[in-house]
Amino acid sequence: MLRLAVLASGGGTNLQAIIDAAEGGEIDARVVVVISNNSTAGALERARRHHIKALHLSSRQFAGGEEFDRALLEILKERQVDLIILAGYMKLLSPTVVQAYRHRILNIHPALLPAFGGAGMYGIRVHRAVIASGARYSGVTVHLVDEQYDHGPIVAQRVVPVEDDDTPESLARKVLAQEHQIFKEVIQLFARGRVRVEGRRVRLLPRS
Ligand code: GRF
Repeated sequence: MLRLAVLASGGGTNLQAIIDAAEGGEIDARVVVVISNNSTAGALERARRHHIKALHLSSRQFAGGEEFDRALLEILKERQVDLIILAGYMKLLSPTVVQAYRHRILNIHPALLPAFGGAGMYGIRVHRAVIASGARYSGVTVHLVDEQYDHGPIVAQRVVPVEDDDTPESLARKVLAQEHQIFKEVIQLFARGRVRVEGRRVRLLPRS
């Protein structure tokens, strides 16, 4: 069983999809802690509903970034976390945390990276930018986290066509539905030890 920590700032529909997949036996993983920088995040509420440890952890509670990192790493260690899942987590993890869990942190982004990513590209802004660009395809990217926003090696992507009558909101809905699907598939790849990172490229090993 892979032990997951999910970090989320918002409503937590991706978290919910992961919890449901874990409880339904679709993935060999279990969410052992949910952490949010936002005390009112729906994600924390969802965790509590499933009797999963839910923690509000914000850098504002600490004197500095180092103290925050220490507290976060302590929780992850105590819970014996194997994989960290960023599911709508709006904060950049520090190099200390990234290094401690190198290639064991996943982020989901609601577009096809490396396009439409980076600082300030989140939520509905991403879908607005995609539509404004005239792109015919958008989608979802799950990638490993490195020290920059939306930058680490790509593990999986799914394409969502942009229709002529799509609005940022309608596109967001279609992309989100794919997010819920792809995240659990990627987690299962990790659970099965099928992910190998070779520089910027990720190789998915065949089923054994
Ligand atoms: C998703 O669109 C995700 O790609 C982005 O933040 C959103 C989170 O949605 N990083 P939810 O909180 O999981 O519903």
